[in-house]
Amino acid sequence: MGFMNRDIVSIRDFTRDDLESIFGLARRMENEGYDRGMLRGKRVSLLFYEPSTRTRLSFQAAAQSLGADTVWFAGVEGTSVMKGETLKDTIETVANYADAIVIRHPYDGAARWAAEITTRRAARGEKKVPVINGGDGRNEHPTQTMLDLYTIAQSQGRIDGLTIGMVGDLKYGRTVHSLAYALGMYNCRIRLVAPDQLQMPPHVLSYLSSRGVECTLHTSIDEIIGEADILYMTRIQKERFPDENEYNRVRGLYRLTRKTLQPAKPSMRVMHPLPRVDEISIDVDDDARSYYFKQAGNGVPIRAALLAMVLGGIS
Ligand code: NCD
Repeated sequence: MGFMNRDIVSIRDFTRDDLESIFGLARRMENEGYDRGMLRGKRVSLLFYEPSTRTRLSFQAAAQSLGADTVWFAGVEGTSVMKGETLKDTIETVANYADAIVIRHPYDGAARWAAEITTRRAARGEKKVPVINGGDGRNEHPTQTMLDLYTIAQSQGRIDGLTIGMVGDLKYGRTVHSLAYALGMYNCRIRLVAPDQLQMPPHVLSYLSSRGVECTLHTSIDEIIGEADILYMTRIQKERFPDENEYNRVRGLYRLTRKTLQPAKPSMRVMHPLPRVDEISIDVDDDARSYYFKQAGNGVPIRAALLAMVLGGIS
């Protein structure tokens, strides 16, 4: 399927070939540099209803590297959302101002709804404005997964055959939902480390088992650290807990330190979508196995490749 004007809502909408073509273009851009003429005259709108540092800034950097400009808000303070404007009306409006919309929203399914709104708009004879999901509630974060897979392949030379541990808040963490769905397309072993109440949701587990993925559940990092090729740490998603007492029971439960890392292979890499709170101690930053800041850097080539494909029809 071509990428021109395609909505990027769920990682499940992509095949392994689709992902490989994004990685190929991202690699080319990293090696050969960005062509500032590629998206000249295009405008990307960034609607961030929730806090963001990496996703918003790397999308903006990516757009600008290809010559596109951006219009955006970061937080609803100062927007008409404060006056009670619905998501539908905001999207209907912004679709007039931009060639693509990147949206981050606290509600699961908000990006799918936004994509439906611009599709209906196109049915009325307007131009289709593709919607890119920058994270919807606790549901998905597909562009994060694209850069995560790119990072895994970059750091290990492959994705197939690896043992990948995911640690922390696997219930509310949208990055690990999308990542697990994507890994179901590869031939990996998955190790899920979380307290029982924050384990991976059943819909993800049953998908993995339907794909025949070897996946085991754990409560301690020590159980998997020796065999992992990738240790994907996550933040406990405080803002998603219905009750603060529940959060207080699990906060600070996992903390990766130099000592915990000792049994890990020298080739193992620690990833984290960031922001980190206290789940990776800062002395791990100087360990050769830490890879999370390099991972964050990969947001620019991946998002530039995506924008080039969606807005420029580049392949
Ligand atoms: C993540 C998110 O927003 O889901 N951040 C990111 O985009 N890199 C992870 C998090 O907030 O914990």
